[in-house]
Amino acid sequence: MNPLRSIILAAAKNGAIRKAVATAPVSRDVVRRFVAGETTADAVAATRALVADGLTVTLDHLGEDTTDAALAERTVLAYEELLSALHAEGLSDRAEVSVKLSAVGQLLDEDMALANAERICRAAEAAGTTVTLDMEDHTTTDSTLRILAELRKTWPWVGAVLQSYLHRTLDDARALASSGSRVRLCKGAYAEPETVAFAAGEETDLSYVRCVNALLAGDGYPMFATHDPRLVRIIGERAEVHGRKPGSFEFQMLYGIRPEEQRRLAQLGHTVRVYVPYGGEWYGYLMRRLAERPANTVFFLRALATR
Ligand code: FDA
Repeated sequence: MNPLRSIILAAAKNGAIRKAVATAPVSRDVVRRFVAGETTADAVAATRALVADGLTVTLDHLGEDTTDAALAERTVLAYEELLSALHAEGLSDRAEVSVKLSAVGQLLDEDMALANAERICRAAEAAGTTVTLDMEDHTTTDSTLRILAELRKTWPWVGAVLQSYLHRTLDDARALASSGSRVRLCKGAYAEPETVAFAAGEETDLSYVRCVNALLAGDGYPMFATHDPRLVRIIGERAEVHGRKPGSFEFQMLYGIRPEEQRRLAQLGHTVRVYVPYGGEWYGYLMRRLAERPANTVFFLRALATR
């Protein structure tokens, strides 16, 4: 793994650094580049603007690694409120939600996380939309796939996420490429040991392309989450080879990252979904975005320095 990335991801776990960054007044401004705001109303407003531009949306209520059942409950309530607001605003045919199981109790008790995820799926069903389960660090992969399988018994539309940096992922991609199966493929954003993940970016990219082929060859609905121009081009080429028309797969990108590219792909007729995080617990999310790209870190440090 790139040394800067490792340093930032390690610093993100340090309590003193977390406190300093989270309370710095400048952080709020920087955060707004990647996070839609703190409230349900902010999330709905961002969704409305993106939908008006021809994009679709998946919303993430920020929070992770919850070790407190009351906090997990608050996360579920936030999703229920969001889903009913999206429905009331007529946006739920263009916007779904993404859920981190660690925010709804996965680290405390898998059954609690499942029960909480079921409540969010029920709310999504009532709103006429879908849910995707984000994938977190590799210690949670098996648990997340177990919960996915349980949820899909009732709600077959629940989306999975696979991370191409994990050695196991091609097998998972093949297993999940079945009819109706919504699968988001990303590179992966956590600091992982070399025993489970590729150390080099190039190997992760090659794995990504192998998984693209597996998902496009199957009968599922692949959702390709990447900002990487080379991969976007390869996905387009491989989709043609597999006879996949726009609409039988989608592109996904993060809020605030390559917005012109998001609109360009949508104008070509592709479904493009923007991952929109919102809420007060933005710290872990922001640190992963900084770790991914030195330019984001420079932007952040420059903002701190010019205060
Ligand atoms: P990468 O970061 O390797 O960048 C490759 C190239 O893309 C760069 O060289 C540059 O050309 C371009 N690029 C990247 N960032 C740019 C920027 N800010 N501005 C301009 N160009 C830029 N991860 C995870 O572990 N679990 C999950 O559930 C999810 N979910 C998820 C959903 C969605 C919709 C997305 C887009 C991503 C995720 N991720 C994720 C994060 C993912 O794993 C990954 O960390 C980031 O997407 C960064 O990887 P890229 O594929 O974008 O390429």
